[in-house]
Amino acid sequence: MIPAAKETLMATKPKATQKPKPQTSDEWMMLEFEIQRLFDGAPVDEEQLFAGRSKEVNKMLQTVMERAKHVVLFGERGVGKTSLSNIFWKRYGTTLQSFIVARVQCGPHDDFSSVWIRGLEELKAMGISRGRPDYVNFDTNFTAITPSQVRRELQKINPNALPIIIFDEYDKVTDGDTKVLMANIVKELYDFAVHTTVIIVGVAENISELIADHASIGRALVDVPLHRMSESELREIIHQRIRQTPMTFSNDAIWTVVILSRGLPFFTQTLSKLAALNAIKTRRLNINNGDVAEAMKQFIEDTAVSFRDAYGEATRTNQKNNLKETLLACALAKSDDEGFFKAADLIEPLSAIMKDRRRIAHFEKHLRRFSGDDGGKILSRRGGDRQQMFRFADPMMQPYVIINGIQSGMIDEDAKNLLFQKEQREFAI
Ligand SMILES: Nc1ncnc2c1ncn2[C@@H]1O[C@H](COP(=O)(O)OP(=O)(O)OP(=O)(O)O)[C@@H](O)[C@H]1O
Ligand SMILES: [Mg+2]
Repeated sequence: MIPAAKETLMATKPKATQKPKPQTSDEWMMLEFEIQRLFDGAPVDEEQLFAGRSKEVNKMLQTVMERAKHVVLFGERGVGKTSLSNIFWKRYGTTLQSFIVARVQCGPHDDFSSVWIRGLEELKAMGISRGRPDYVNFDTNFTAITPSQVRRELQKINPNALPIIIFDEYDKVTDGDTKVLMANIVKELYDFAVHTTVIIVGVAENISELIADHASIGRALVDVPLHRMSESELREIIHQRIRQTPMTFSNDAIWTVVILSRGLPFFTQTLSKLAALNAIKTRRLNINNGDVAEAMKQFIEDTAVSFRDAYGEATRTNQKNNLKETLLACALAKSDDEGFFKAADLIEPLSAIMKDRRRIAHFEKHLRRFSGDDGGKILSRRGGDRQQMFRFADPMMQPYVIINGIQSGMIDEDAKNLLFQKEQREFAI
């Protein structure tokens, strides 16, 4: 178990209406279903369950209201891009009536025509389903389409409508021409002041990975980089959900979940869910640090297939060279809000784990391995030789490595105190 401040039960905010404790086994089962539903780990689609992100929500809404600009929403895998694009337009109910939102899921076989034909079809279907066929009186009957044809169709939309077309997972499109044509359509919609907002969503480090020649269409584009969530946003995720049930989280349990999540909301939901289910097993409504410890065990069992191979490849060795400890230190290293850390950031966690002062020279070659083919590129690297930064190529791997490290006893109590205490002080409950 992770050491933490004194256990304070009932730490979650008071509930508006206190729900009664389940009495019968059916009632406990209902509570279990409710927890599964609330913490299901799918992209958020209900405003009530969406935490934080107010800056990004406002930026996106403002862009839609300006009516001539378009958005590129990008960030690491799993930071909440789909959820944000699902929710931002629902934030202020008053204007909701006029929104017509189409979502297109892009894939590796798509090109400009295929994504836009689906986009037009979807937009039309959404307008009709909202009872406004007059808003979306344009053609969708194309087998191929050019940027100018798209623009001409979108110009037919009723000016009272607020149409949005979201191209999610746009990074999956491999066709090079699509990137160029997408830049063309953005420019064309902007130049003709067409009132449809295009939102391009994808995993990327920067905008140019998604859009060709973005500098020339800079005025037409608003970039919304989405970073990992702050600790208070992650806490909000727990509060928002648990508040709808009769259960409570202790401060310690919340803190542990948040620290382990590394800014990734999926983990906050998954660990909270597993911890709550563990408490339900013993018919308790308060979730404590012991439940989180059980949740970690369960998590490692559940995710063995997806992470174990990559973890094994990165750390497999015949020599005694502390690869596992170094990878754990990478996962614990202080990083920026995009998850990047420098070699020097490993000194403190690795020294705490090894109980011996480590220097960069001790682990430099490990970092090279982790970011190269030998280590399965478990880390990705950016920057030149002097300013090299690293982060986990799959951000989901990072909490796995930490939980695995705790589970396999790589961090003893003293090291835990040292590694987690500092952050705990900054964690205002
Ligand atoms: N603002 C939020 N409030 C609460 N939960 C969130 C929020 N944003 C994301 N999540 C949760 O985080 C997880 C990942 O969210 P989402 O699928 O939106 O991320 P993504 O960036 O689109 O991921 P991917 O890169 O895999 O497409 C989901 O479990 C979702 O419920
Ligand atoms: Mg997504």
